[in-house]
Amino acid sequence: MRLTDEDKSILDGNRGEAARIALSVLVDLGELFDAPELMKVSQVHIDATLYMVEAGLEFAEKMVDWGGTVAVPTSLNPSAIDLQRWEAYRVPAEILDRHKRLEEAYLNMRATPTWTCAPYQHGIVPRFGEQIAWGESNAIAFANSIIGARTNRYADLMDICAAIIGKVPKFGLHLTENRKAGMLIQLNDITSTMLADDAIYPLLGYLLGEMAGDQVAALTGIPKNVKIDSLKGFCAAAASSGAVGLCHLVGITPEAQTLEMCLHGSKPQMVLEITPQAIRRTEEKLRSVKSDGVDLVVCGCPHYSMAELIRLVQLIHGKKVHSSVVFWIFTNRTVYAWIKNNGILADLSAAGVMVFTDGCPLQYPRETWHFNAAMTDSAKFANYCFSQRGLDAVYGSIEDCVETAVRGKIRRKEAPWHLK
Ligand code: F3S
Repeated sequence: MRLTDEDKSILDGNRGEAARIALSVLVDLGELFDAPELMKVSQVHIDATLYMVEAGLEFAEKMVDWGGTVAVPTSLNPSAIDLQRWEAYRVPAEILDRHKRLEEAYLNMRATPTWTCAPYQHGIVPRFGEQIAWGESNAIAFANSIIGARTNRYADLMDICAAIIGKVPKFGLHLTENRKAGMLIQLNDITSTMLADDAIYPLLGYLLGEMAGDQVAALTGIPKNVKIDSLKGFCAAAASSGAVGLCHLVGITPEAQTLEMCLHGSKPQMVLEITPQAIRRTEEKLRSVKSDGVDLVVCGCPHYSMAELIRLVQLIHGKKVHSSVVFWIFTNRTVYAWIKNNGILADLSAAGVMVFTDGCPLQYPRETWHFNAAMTDSAKFANYCFSQRGLDAVYGSIEDCVETAVRGKIRRKEAPWHLK
């Protein structure tokens, strides 16, 4: 790789040990991918915020000991826990200690305590064409596909290195030629009534992820007036069933206003379609719960927006969560402050809904919560729930989640794609 004089000076240790280590990791990454040089990024989103193993904590603390601070605005993905309401979340002392140490390390690095996996809604939001380095698969897919910013799928710890240096190797989705769609996915027999139902978008995303894998795909047929939260659910699902970093939603993705634009003038190598039958099969796949009972309902994966909380409070108005069910919502600190001020939080609490910030419901403490089955309006959560936590799950709309939480029994409304 061609290195600038500044890069060489950092590698010689002139900006301290943290910067030397961080840059040497980035250079190794660049050499692995034959990148010609490093390039500047304007911001970073760190995904290495969950305590998984001791090594992750040790890496963050070592970087602080060695004088590491972020060189560009840097936001943080969720911790595993609610860092403020950890008592209500029944966080065991040992887990709390690890996460508090991680929190301290990132704050000492001068990262921004966003603690959210939807930083594109409340974080340091990039613009079209901006070169960034983000971790967290749903955020990466959203940044590339919906905003048109440019990032690779940066792995944990690599994101810390990028933040300390403010640069990444020039490769992958940072380059125009690698953003070309090689595959075209079309909607077949999917009606406008189906597309008006918010619950279809995570299912479409899940199917697209399965079809695309790690390839860049173009999807036609998504209406231009689709809600931003539907796109959030779509991207989260696509990046969990496949390794999707970018998919072009034709007419929505800024660099795919037409199909020709994202195919870069060539023909797709493969054309696939999504049908109502495929959507029904996906729903079945996202149900491992065998009986009609659940004891946990989870929304906010990725973190809920203000619009989603308004919808939720409207749906639960006058009702109460069943005594056999725990109903969790996860959101970010900004939205939490708003709903605390405007009374939504009080209404949700009165209905028996527990609202948390900072954390990731997939990482809930199993030592203190003993669930048998969960319902969620997140295809990502339903997809990972059994494989990562051994907990059966079922996907449903937000309406299904509220009704299920209130009745204490699974309720699924008839969706338009069930009738085809
Ligand atoms: Fe966010 Fe955790 Fe879901 S990080 S996207 S809430 S799995």
